[in-house]
Amino acid sequence: MKFQVVDNSKSIESDILVMTIFEGEKTSDDTANKYAIEEDNFKGKFGETYLLHTYGKEPYRKIMILGLGKKEKFCPNKFREAIAKAVKKAMQMFAKKVAFSFEGIDFDYSEQFVMGATIADYKFDKYKSEKKDNSIEEIYVQADEEKIRKAEKIAAAMTFARNIANEPAQFATPSELAAIACDLGLETKIYDREECEKMGMGAFLAVGRGSAEEPKFIHMKYQVDNPKKRIAIIGKGICFDSGGLDIKPASSMLTMKDDMSAAAAVLGIMSIIRELHPQIEVHGIIAACENMPGCKAYKPGDILTAKNGKTIEVDNTDAEGRLTLADALCYACELGVDEVIDMATLTGACMVALGTHASGIMGNDDNLVKTLIDTAKRSGENFWELPLWDEYFDSLKSDIADMKNTGSRWGGASTAGVFLKEFVKDVKWAHIDIAGTAFLEKPQKEFISGATGAGVRTILKYITEV
Ligand code: BES
Ligand code: MN
Ligand code: ZN
Repeated sequence: MKFQVVDNSKSIESDILVMTIFEGEKTSDDTANKYAIEEDNFKGKFGETYLLHTYGKEPYRKIMILGLGKKEKFCPNKFREAIAKAVKKAMQMFAKKVAFSFEGIDFDYSEQFVMGATIADYKFDKYKSEKKDNSIEEIYVQADEEKIRKAEKIAAAMTFARNIANEPAQFATPSELAAIACDLGLETKIYDREECEKMGMGAFLAVGRGSAEEPKFIHMKYQVDNPKKRIAIIGKGICFDSGGLDIKPASSMLTMKDDMSAAAAVLGIMSIIRELHPQIEVHGIIAACENMPGCKAYKPGDILTAKNGKTIEVDNTDAEGRLTLADALCYACELGVDEVIDMATLTGACMVALGTHASGIMGNDDNLVKTLIDTAKRSGENFWELPLWDEYFDSLKSDIADMKNTGSRWGGASTAGVFLKEFVKDVKWAHIDIAGTAFLEKPQKEFISGATGAGVRTILKYITEV
């Protein structure tokens, strides 16, 4: 899909011209108004479309009137969703060239236009023997060229992340993630098992021990001269989460190839960072392994020593993500960066609390958390703050080690948060739990089922706005 910025989309030869209408209002086209509104009682409800043929009288073969719903309720998020609906409809019609004409929209829609269209155009059909050739080739729009080009890059990073996260666990192994990282053209270091042992990553390595796949610790670096600040982005990279010896029931295990969605997001972010060239230093970090119940698997009751020397009693092998993140957080803090942001499909509890519509966020710096929440809002994502009070640590107390890896079932997202906090030192830190938002079991708004690329848009906006 190519975005062409034009002066007048109505003068371009296209298969469809999409025009928008607010509920109960009219379009600027008298013929369209006559047929759609007067004759067929088209109301322009949100996401509704009406089609008209132009019988060779116009450069566009058809008109699609796209309902934007009530004007009072209209906002950039609604706009993006509406664009996705129009794009999906145009794809059903096998349209190849689609032009868009907007009137009466009082905000700059360039970014959300690209997002809506790209998200709607996404498919994961590499394992289908019959593929539908219904992608749109050219899109024509009157918009801010610079904003369109930047949004295009961010959208491409999302697609990149979605492709990796959708890949079955048999292919998207820790070694494969490492290979993808090495192909991004950044300075990248992959640490193997022995090197991780030398660094003292006892928590991360324990999780990976029950698997035949080798663990890989991935560190990608984007550097600039005189960076305005230095940040690290960590992504949970459990390539498959069986639960380990505390094995998951089949229904919960079904989607656990998605437990590296955050790692995929970090790869997506790092894949485009050179093209966006922010004036800050960015480290992308992934502790990649599988959580399997093989004969060398770590066991409930084991005591692990993390990179910072703290000891952890294994209470449940299914709380593996926080163990891998513990060592990754220690590593990131040792880099001496100003900020660390981790993303993770960490807790079912976060999904219970917020559903699939919002990611949970918590952290030790109010300003960082608030800025990320605001950036998410402007990117089209929802971050919702959850508490990170010391009280949540009570249930993690262990009789024989510094802490256990799980505690009370209640407030599980915050309990995981305070566990992670034990491995954060002298740095501004935010933790984003994307358990509910990273992977959809059924289609939702502009997304098909499967990976969503959660976190990519927000973090890239955050990085480029510094
Ligand atoms: N990867 C899961 C969390 C998850 C659940 C992500 C559902 C996406 C959808 C994580 O490793 C896990 O198993 N968490 C346990 C923690 C529990 C043992 C304290 C959970 O949430 O049940
Ligand atoms: Mn788990
Ligand atoms: Zn997990």
